[in-house]
Amino acid sequence: MQAKLEMVKALLSGGGRVVVLTGAGVSAESGVPTFRGRDGLWKHHRAEDLARPDAFAAHPELVWEFYNWRRSLVSGCHPNAAHLALAAMERQIPNFLLITQNVDGLHTRAGSHKLLEMHGSLWRVRCTVCTHAREDFSDLPDLPDCPVCGHLLRPGVVWFGEPLTPGVLRLAIEAVGKADVFLSVGTSNLVQPAASFYQLAKDHGAVTVEINPAPTPNTGFMDFALHGPAGEILPELAAGLGE
Ligand code: OAD
Repeated sequence: MQAKLEMVKALLSGGGRVVVLTGAGVSAESGVPTFRGRDGLWKHHRAEDLARPDAFAAHPELVWEFYNWRRSLVSGCHPNAAHLALAAMERQIPNFLLITQNVDGLHTRAGSHKLLEMHGSLWRVRCTVCTHAREDFSDLPDLPDCPVCGHLLRPGVVWFGEPLTPGVLRLAIEAVGKADVFLSVGTSNLVQPAASFYQLAKDHGAVTVEINPAPTPNTGFMDFALHGPAGEILPELAAGLGE
């Protein structure tokens, strides 16, 4: 493991373009439940059954209750060593981009700026009818309504079955296609298109690295698979990078 870590560290210090994709596992050590882990159920509902437009259309109060619970849970969590290491990497690696599937905002709170939030943010809300959208960290009512047109607000996240924001997807694909080193961290690699980013990176000659305590469908295709928690491995990779 130590030899692999040193090799990946050398790659990161090599002056090339580094793109990191993160998933829920990066926030697990902050106490944020992953989607598909044992702690992924809320009141017997799977997150995947609530994070969808048809669930919101049928039961907006239940979906809002779920999102208000998540907002409250995450507001009590703090960035962990993995988030901080990625923010440090951004400062040390001139050509760096972090792409996250997470909506918890912990990368921003850790100090990451070169960041694409592919699935939106828990801290954004938008109107289901008009163009009103805003960042909002306050406690929201059970069914918040739009201050402009009075219709129902919804969480500013991308749900299953919804397209990603086109500009965000384009930027992500461009960066992944130009990467020299591609790191996939704390994602089960079960949700597209993020699950295929490693392939795009590989096709364009990037070295691919996975960090996860458990294998994923992509593990066997990666150049380096580092098995373990992101909060332990990323700080080791980030330590002394700029020296
Ligand atoms: P998942 O819950 O599917 O996967 C979490 C991954 O994190 C698993 O592979 C775990 O093994 C790994 N993991 C757990 N603890 C870890 C740790 N300490 N360090 C590193 N890895 C750890 O979450 P995602 O892959 O992020 O989308 O799920 C992708 C998308 O599916 C989410 O963004 C969400 C979802 O349902 C939408 O809501 C649209």
